[in-house]
Amino acid sequence: MKRSIPELQHSEVPLVMVTAYDYPGGRHAEAAGVDLILVGDSLGNVVLGYDSTAPVTLGDMIHHARAVRRGAPDTFMIVDLPFGTYHTGVQDAMRNAVKIIQETGADAVKMEGATAEILQVVDTLTRNGIPVMGHVGLMPQTATAQGGLKVQGKDDDSARLTLDGALALERAGAFGIVLEAIPARLARLISEKLHIPTIGIGAGVGCGGQVLVTHDLLGVYEGEEKKIAKRYAEVGKVAREAIEHYAAEVRARQFPTKENSFVMKDDVLDKLY
Ligand code: KIV
Ligand code: NA
Repeated sequence: MKRSIPELQHSEVPLVMVTAYDYPGGRHAEAAGVDLILVGDSLGNVVLGYDSTAPVTLGDMIHHARAVRRGAPDTFMIVDLPFGTYHTGVQDAMRNAVKIIQETGADAVKMEGATAEILQVVDTLTRNGIPVMGHVGLMPQTATAQGGLKVQGKDDDSARLTLDGALALERAGAFGIVLEAIPARLARLISEKLHIPTIGIGAGVGCGGQVLVTHDLLGVYEGEEKKIAKRYAEVGKVAREAIEHYAAEVRARQFPTKENSFVMKDDVLDKLY
């Protein structure tokens, strides 16, 4: 059953979040009983084949989130606001978040950053009844400006910025915050200072929950190991081998067999000759 925000916030055990991007992804996540599904804009990387999340549009997010919702009607679903959809003023951000909620059945939206502008957006959305999850540390949408996809919060300035950002997001009304790619001890400190749950990815075990990109945990892409993710399966290998097996059987006329074929009465067939 779908868990409410207070239930999620008071969980005794770490919260489990996974990403999903389509109907099968939603079904798998719901059947596995995760607490939260994130329709992440990592969609751009793992499903659409872009090399960053920047090209992902609001339309892409809505199209995919609707499919996830059909597969996971009873799981708390958060949808990422993609790059550019909450950076041109509070009204635009509000309009785009409302569109996501209305058209996808999302329970909440997520956005990256803790600048004064973003904090104002978080404040406005939450005051108007749209739950917002924050996201600090490594922020893929603006990674170029952060000096590339690398660990944040390692020196005092960066650690302070990350901690202050998380605290400010809580004050602005966020119900939870993703901590991405920061040292484990910093993530633990932030998690202790906040009253809302932190959801870590590459942020150690001291967070209120964990999130992984499903394609990473499933091992969808062969040979693409990542430090922050554990591969719980090798689905890419399984998929490739299954297709190779099918191809070999087609070429050897071993598939389809009688079991896969339809029969008809001989006399009907005879009339055709
Ligand atoms: O887009 C995404 O998948 C994310 C998670 C990594 C938190 O933002
Ligand atoms: Na994201």
